[in-house]
Amino acid sequence: MGFITKNVPLHQTDIAFYLPTQIKFGLGIVEKLGLELQIEPDLAGCGRVVLVTDQGVASAGLVEKVEAGLADSPYEIKAIFDAVPSDSDLNTVRELTQIIQRHEANLIIALGGGSVMDTAKAGSLIAAHGGEVRDYEGGFMVPGPCIPIVTIPTTTGTGSEVSLGLVIKDREARSKITVVSPFLFPRLAVLDPEMVKTLPPKLVAWTGMDALTHAIEVYVSTEHAPISEALAFRVVEMIFDNLEAAVKNSDSLDARAKMQLAATMAGMAMSNAGLGATHAINHTVGAMFGVHHGLGNAVALPEVMKYNLETCPERFASLARAMGVTQTDLSDEELGQLAIERVRGLRQVLGIPERYSDLGVPTDDATIEAIAEGAMNDPMLAFNPRKTELRDMKPLVAKTLRNGAEG
Ligand SMILES: [Fe+2]
Repeated sequence: MGFITKNVPLHQTDIAFYLPTQIKFGLGIVEKLGLELQIEPDLAGCGRVVLVTDQGVASAGLVEKVEAGLADSPYEIKAIFDAVPSDSDLNTVRELTQIIQRHEANLIIALGGGSVMDTAKAGSLIAAHGGEVRDYEGGFMVPGPCIPIVTIPTTTGTGSEVSLGLVIKDREARSKITVVSPFLFPRLAVLDPEMVKTLPPKLVAWTGMDALTHAIEVYVSTEHAPISEALAFRVVEMIFDNLEAAVKNSDSLDARAKMQLAATMAGMAMSNAGLGATHAINHTVGAMFGVHHGLGNAVALPEVMKYNLETCPERFASLARAMGVTQTDLSDEELGQLAIERVRGLRQVLGIPERYSDLGVPTDDATIEAIAEGAMNDPMLAFNPRKTELRDMKPLVAKTLRNGAEG
């Protein structure tokens, strides 16, 4: 009994789990999107649609699939905004907001990855309540409902399709703004494996590693609880069983479909348990140097796991079980070390480098200082299991940057 978790006492006795986003999964479901929307009473009258996407998704022909799915339905696409960059920013949100307001949209469809979905959430928020994204920075600052959003994810990692958060870049300040509010939960997430069929392998790998980071950070978070743990365990198992196949065998729709589901399940969990130091560091690296979010998480994750291991070895031991480790003669610390090795192994198989320096991030002391300070100010650090001060953060950041950094 308790082979995975050892049946430890509850970590907390007050547990709230929010899951307002409805999920519809199915191969080809986008082809009947109009029907799927019409059967939802609160969406039946939301016929003025703005579609938010990016150039890559548009050139892959996925916009046409959504248009076909809405043909002969009461849902009219009033405008298509396909200018979301890979790392969306405040100017992009301003542009989108004007379009939403000009067309008096009452439904926003976000077709894309995390940047597209977060931009759609920000546009929905500002169109409904005015001001700038920074006015709502932090937790629970959104005053009321926003324009409903339907998400159609085209990557396999973000989780934003079911999450209550958005992250938008402030290019001038070289920082990222995080907004968290129950009013940002999308109304509906439509998961169609057809939408990830043509996703380039490297993006499957990078976004898949983002989903893995979500699950691992959720599992060791200060806010972990059995509901989020259950999701995190299944996500870890599905990713270790399917990510490599989803990347290397683009014909494996089953593997990609399971990665799509795993990403969404991780998003459900992270909305309720928070994340940790990997995201805190990586948000800063992404804001300063433009490193892809999933790729950057994959770089930092093993070092952060190693840093956190001494705080909660039993939790990392449980993660090792979810990754397939079956030995029974090892200590929690040894099992936790194996979990870290498995993550490193997966990363290597996917061709992802070990350090930020391999991605062009400078390794000088001033850069380490700047990243460490940014990470200390990131709201996700609050959920990291090991209490972290700036003097702890600097050597940790150094290890993610360069080989042989001293702790
Ligand atoms: Fe993430």
